[in-house]
Amino acid sequence: MKILASRRFPGPAWDELHDVEYFEGSLTGPQPDVDALAVVGEVVNGRTLEFLPNLRLVANYGVGYDDIDVAACTARGVAVTNTPGVLDAATADLTLALILATRRRLVESDSFVRAGLWGTDWASTTLLAQEVTGATLGIVGLGRIGTAVARRARGFDVRLLYTQRARLAEAEERDLGAEFHPLDDLLRAADIVTLHIPLTGETEGLIDGRRLGLLRDGASLVNTARGAIVDEEALVRELVAGRIRAGLDVFAHEPNVPQELLELPNVVLTPHLGSATQETREAMTRVLVDNLKAAAAGRELPNPVYAS
Ligand code: DGY
Repeated sequence: MKILASRRFPGPAWDELHDVEYFEGSLTGPQPDVDALAVVGEVVNGRTLEFLPNLRLVANYGVGYDDIDVAACTARGVAVTNTPGVLDAATADLTLALILATRRRLVESDSFVRAGLWGTDWASTTLLAQEVTGATLGIVGLGRIGTAVARRARGFDVRLLYTQRARLAEAEERDLGAEFHPLDDLLRAADIVTLHIPLTGETEGLIDGRRLGLLRDGASLVNTARGAIVDEEALVRELVAGRIRAGLDVFAHEPNVPQELLELPNVVLTPHLGSATQETREAMTRVLVDNLKAAAAGRELPNPVYAS
């Protein structure tokens, strides 16, 4: 099976593949010999598929596959797979890091020390922050990653609210200690809101200006999911006004970050690092390769995804 890959993926599993060719940017001409594409973040649409008439599989490195037109693939009989499960812990860990950094003003404090501004005793009130322990945490999307965040957050004795399309069974809610609330109610009630939903036609711009306006003064919004779930211009306005805080790992037009955010003390910025640990990235390669090998052997694909 001939694989066209947008890069060499990290870890030993990648070396199990033999017939791999690499491409950069977008495809420029027909490649009828290609059976499978291995991609991360590259757009795969009808035009891509026209260049690859014998394609059987698009294997996405990552759990989110919003850059792939799954409906166009399905229409041409091309399967799509992703790499779920193995990145939940790393993404949940980063979410907790952003919650802590945002609430406890860690990055601001680090800059303060480096700038030589620490001229008083520790009892100064300059960098007083907000507690994480005992806060109300609102989780938007209690899938694998949202649940991993919920389990970690319980260690901070938070009141846990969640929202998603289908409410959990009572026993599951009890087990997690999570209360269901419709999205707008959750936004009004939470001190910290964290997003863990995929980017789809339905969720794009879900957290719009009106909904951002529902957040409490001083609330923190954390996003390790996808930037375009939030109306980024409206978010920038709220942050410039200084009314809320944010911990942002994802942006609407990566790698571009709105210029205004770069100077703000109430925002912690990271460059889409949710899955960025050595262990997790190698585990993602393992899953990617397993899907490619299954396709090559004509076996059932371990992680197929479908158009929503
Ligand atoms: C994914 O897998 O979609 C993540 O965004 C990578 O961290």
